[in-house]
Amino acid sequence: MEFDHTAHPNPTSAARLEQILANPGFGTSFADHTAVIDWTAERGWANPRVEPYGPIALDPAASVLHYAQEIFEGMKAYRHDDGGIYTFRPLENARRLNRSAQRMALPELPEELFVASLEELVQTDRDWVPNGDGEALYLRPFMFASEAFLGVRAAREVSYRVIASPAGNYFGGELKPVRIWVTRDYIRAAPGGTGAAKTGGNYAGSLAAQQQATAQGCDQVLFLDPTRENAVEELGGMNVFLVTADNRLITPELTGTILEGITRASVIQLAKDRGMAVEERRVTLDEWGAGIADGSITEAFACGTAAVITPIGELVDGDRSIASAGTGEVTTSIREELLGIQTGTVEDRHGWMHQL
Ligand code: PLP
Ligand code: COI
Repeated sequence: MEFDHTAHPNPTSAARLEQILANPGFGTSFADHTAVIDWTAERGWANPRVEPYGPIALDPAASVLHYAQEIFEGMKAYRHDDGGIYTFRPLENARRLNRSAQRMALPELPEELFVASLEELVQTDRDWVPNGDGEALYLRPFMFASEAFLGVRAAREVSYRVIASPAGNYFGGELKPVRIWVTRDYIRAAPGGTGAAKTGGNYAGSLAAQQQATAQGCDQVLFLDPTRENAVEELGGMNVFLVTADNRLITPELTGTILEGITRASVIQLAKDRGMAVEERRVTLDEWGAGIADGSITEAFACGTAAVITPIGELVDGDRSIASAGTGEVTTSIREELLGIQTGTVEDRHGWMHQL
């Protein structure tokens, strides 16, 4: 399918763009264009185009506004020294989008159309890719039910879009260990629910817990599964890894209640490449706390597209603070290797990078 192109009539000035790229923050400025593909049950996918970024006219009865039939992805485009712009493992995002689509009764998007939508948008807005340390153009593909209909059923009209936003550190400022609030009031997902889908409702459901975290001076919230002895699940927007004193990595196994992070899968691969043992299994909050206390768990980190790899400095569980080690060596070294592959300074031995 060929994409139509409509240039922005009033693009961001070079001076304003320079200002934005000097301090991109996270998710506050948006590139001038957006990629769009429409879907109807009758026609399937049609009308792929790149058009000026701007507000969407949506019928007040559009079912996404009532029943939250929506999914999204998150990925980044990096500027390499060879002048090319690359993204990381886009087929994995395409496949996860389609798993989310199945769960949320949305139409699957052919993988090649997903990748083409990224290529077309980034080629149009290539000046928006920052090149500072740890910076990238964050790409946000998303799909939602646009049909105006108040009955509860899968929509017959759907919109797929991609927007792009220059991004620095998700947590703001320089990289530093984050404080994590352990919520005892809320759970994120349950077996058979939507936890493994990247759907807006999971994030809406996490916000009350995130508000508590913020009120306690924490950066992110950790969800547990109280039905499995407080097994560690994941953070509001990131997966979790623990590093042991004898050089093992432990991360919660995929049970259908957590997001199957692409960063998570990549960290597991990089760790195995170094000969580290990786345990994907149930790990409880008690095990984590006891491991910090007796020195058998030396580091912990959060990982995801937005967070990259961010050290966890402290767990706050009600009145109890469980400090961990700050920025450990294993965390730093895996972060550097992963970022190096993504930014083109470390050999891409797994063929993860895709030129846009
Ligand atoms: N878990 C949640 C809830 C997320 O929102 C994300 C971010 O996308 C992740 C984990 C990490 O996934 P990925 O590494 O694919 O970005
Ligand atoms: C991402 O990392 O892409 C996410 O969607 C998580 C969110 C914290 C921005």
